[in-house]
Amino acid sequence: MTRVLRPEQAGALAEAARVLRAGGLVAFPTETVYGLGADAFDATAVARIFEAKRRPAFDPLIVHLPEASWLPRVAASQPAAAQGLAARFWPGPLTLVLPRAEAVPDIVTSGLPSVAVRVPDHPAARALIAAAGTPVAAPSANPFGYVSPTTAAHVAELLGDAVDLILDGGPCRVGVESTIVSLLEPTPALLRPGGLPREELEELLGQRLRVVPASDRPQAPGQLTRHYATRTPLVVLAPEQPPVATGAGRVGLLAREQAPAAGGFAAIEVLAPDGQPRTAAARLFSALRHLDGLGLDLILAEPWSGHGLGLAIMDRLRRCAAGRDD
Ligand code: TXA
Ligand code: MG
Repeated sequence: MTRVLRPEQAGALAEAARVLRAGGLVAFPTETVYGLGADAFDATAVARIFEAKRRPAFDPLIVHLPEASWLPRVAASQPAAAQGLAARFWPGPLTLVLPRAEAVPDIVTSGLPSVAVRVPDHPAARALIAAAGTPVAAPSANPFGYVSPTTAAHVAELLGDAVDLILDGGPCRVGVESTIVSLLEPTPALLRPGGLPREELEELLGQRLRVVPASDRPQAPGQLTRHYATRTPLVVLAPEQPPVATGAGRVGLLAREQAPAAGGFAAIEVLAPDGQPRTAAARLFSALRHLDGLGLDLILAEPWSGHGLGLAIMDRLRRCAAGRDD
């Protein structure tokens, strides 16, 4: 049995920090999704992350810091935009891709000359990393190609014994992964839409982000289209398409605001009764996991607009949809 501790339990954070320093793996809560962490400066410990996730390739990982003042430990330089973004949005669901410091092992960056960094907005995550005294490399705590975990129970179910310790900090507030922005070139680039809306970034930067399509991201090998797939085939409905269970078998619906009065669905999950993308993002992965566990033949998903967090939600839904052809 994997050990599960709650961060507020006496000695829990100190014990988790000890596990990290000893080269172990600790799953920990962030505001976005649960991370599977190892000491970023311990290449062997980081290798265990890839084993645990059964990742076919060594994709670069995000390095987590307790505060922005640790940046020089992992980044060789900080473009001016990095300081402005960090000051405004950290702690928070924003990952910055920066020139990498020599000390960061190749296995963390997949040998890239850059490193992805963020300061998560969860007190247990920051306290853990500060107590460990070392930056923590962590991907989402799910096996490769499956939806990310937003509760400690998901992590235990998905990764079980492959993790030395799980810190149970409750359900994740944001529910989709961080927004990834590369600052390697003069015009900042959006590598992955996520929990921080693009519009807020552009407002602070005073310029539009360059958008790098998923199919064209050689610097982000982890951005495989299949990365967020459910086992059950999923189809995203067109904007005005009424939700009706068409085709053979049992069909589930991932509804936007309300369940349709009819439609013949075997199961329905409503993402946001208040219609807010923020509510939908926080529920997205657990709703997908729930529908995926029902042995349905098909999941239909109502689409979201591409504004604010809707962009991240649509990105994850499209990846799920693309996952059918594996
Ligand atoms: O919210 C999050 O970002 C969560 C929590 C745990 O922090 N983490 C997460 O990690 O989503 P992961 O490994 O599932 O996704 C990290 C992404 C990968 O797609 C990877 O390609 C990209 O970050 N990445 C990492 N280093 C990079 C780099 N140097 N250049 C470009 N992309 C990079
Ligand atoms: Mg992931």
